[in-house]
Amino acid sequence: MKIHNFSAGPAILPKTVLEEAAQAVLDFNHRGLSILEVSHRGKDIIAVVDEAEALVKELLGVGDEYEVLFLSGGASTQFLTVPMNLLNDDETAAYLNTGVWADKAIEQAVFYGKVDVVGSSKESNYTFIPKDYKVAPGTKYLHYTTNNTVYGTQFHHIPEVPEGTLLVADMSSDIFSRPVDGNKFDFIYAGAQKNMGPAGVTLVVVRKSILGTVKRHIPTMLDYRVHVKNDSMYNTPPVYPIYVSMLTLRWIKAMGGLAAMERRNKEKAEMLYAEVDRNPIFKGTTAKEDRSWMNATFLADSPENEAAFLAYCKANGVDGLAGHRSVGGFRASMYNAMGIDSVKFLVELMQNFKP
Ligand SMILES: Cc1ncc(COP(=O)(O)O)c(C=O)c1O
Repeated sequence: MKIHNFSAGPAILPKTVLEEAAQAVLDFNHRGLSILEVSHRGKDIIAVVDEAEALVKELLGVGDEYEVLFLSGGASTQFLTVPMNLLNDDETAAYLNTGVWADKAIEQAVFYGKVDVVGSSKESNYTFIPKDYKVAPGTKYLHYTTNNTVYGTQFHHIPEVPEGTLLVADMSSDIFSRPVDGNKFDFIYAGAQKNMGPAGVTLVVVRKSILGTVKRHIPTMLDYRVHVKNDSMYNTPPVYPIYVSMLTLRWIKAMGGLAAMERRNKEKAEMLYAEVDRNPIFKGTTAKEDRSWMNATFLADSPENEAAFLAYCKANGVDGLAGHRSVGGFRASMYNAMGIDSVKFLVELMQNFKP
């Protein structure tokens, strides 16, 4: 039985990527050695990191004024290193609170400067994306989460910031899912484990000129300038997750790049939401205009039907569909690597489900 992987993360990766990654564990580049047992300073691994960096830049359309870093510590470490590196004690950062991850970023930022939560949907359990927020002139940066993995909402616009205010985005769960002009951002970060690769590496894309403006002492390993200077090789980087990410980036490019990813993701999301809206047993949890193309959240009309539908899905090979405990119901994560056939399969189960 084919298993359809709707997990929110770590999540589905392209089959060809998994095959190549598996092969490299046994014999990397025909060297008779596993990729897990070679030096990160050897030329083959440096070539992997260089290619991954180049692919990230190409897909985001950014040039040499940006640096691509592959770091450890997950996106959660970025919640604190972003303000530590960018915000002085007497400066203000604006945050949009659109979910648990944004909330955690805010919790960390308050240790490093002033925080202005300019928009929030927390009171409504994050069912929508705030739109009537204002970022005051003089704000150091605006931080937002492009896709809210837990709640199934996504920004379908790039927020406006006043002249001189930097734009910082946590793109952990929708990076490379659609075309985005990287030049509009000053700092992008993403845990790899959804659209880019396995857990264990965090992508950072930083406009180099924004670094070095804070007065505090920054511990070496948390200072982006150190990683920029050392091309992500100040310490041993997470070699294997970077390798698998590089293979996934190659796959994205070969599939037609971000425009092709967008077409694929839009088609899947529209198909699933159409059934959620049509079928009286199910209902969506978020404002329609803010629905995520990556994580579709929906509920059943009763707790009994929820349990029964989950059991029915499980019996038919649908994995990872249970919603996050803070929303309940179902969450169908449909990252880049998921084919339309899996979404079609889920929709058919929704149609055939007899409570
Ligand atoms: C949008 C978003 N930001 C941050 C995180 C935290 O990432 P990590 O587990 O890599 O720290 C997640 C994890 O799911 C996420 O979805």
